[in-house]
Amino acid sequence: MPKFKVEVDKVKCIGCGACVAQCPDNFEMESGAEYKAKVKKPVVDNIGCNQEAADICPVQAIIVKKL
Ligand code: F3S
Repeated sequence: MPKFKVEVDKVKCIGCGACVAQCPDNFEMESGAEYKAKVKKPVVDNIGCNQEAADICPVQAIIVKKL
């Protein structure tokens, strides 16, 4: 069974929130001073909406890798 690793590059992320809108199942915004996206589950069995979130990010801050 394939697994996927999902990461947010915090340096690139500008906190636009598109990933959360596209894929609330696996993305949320960090609370606190840094308004950046955070992955809820970094390793998932099904890619689900994670790829769409990566595609929609305006600064390509989301990395999805097949493990
Ligand atoms: Fe950041 Fe891209 Fe999401 S800029 S908030 S990772 S859509």
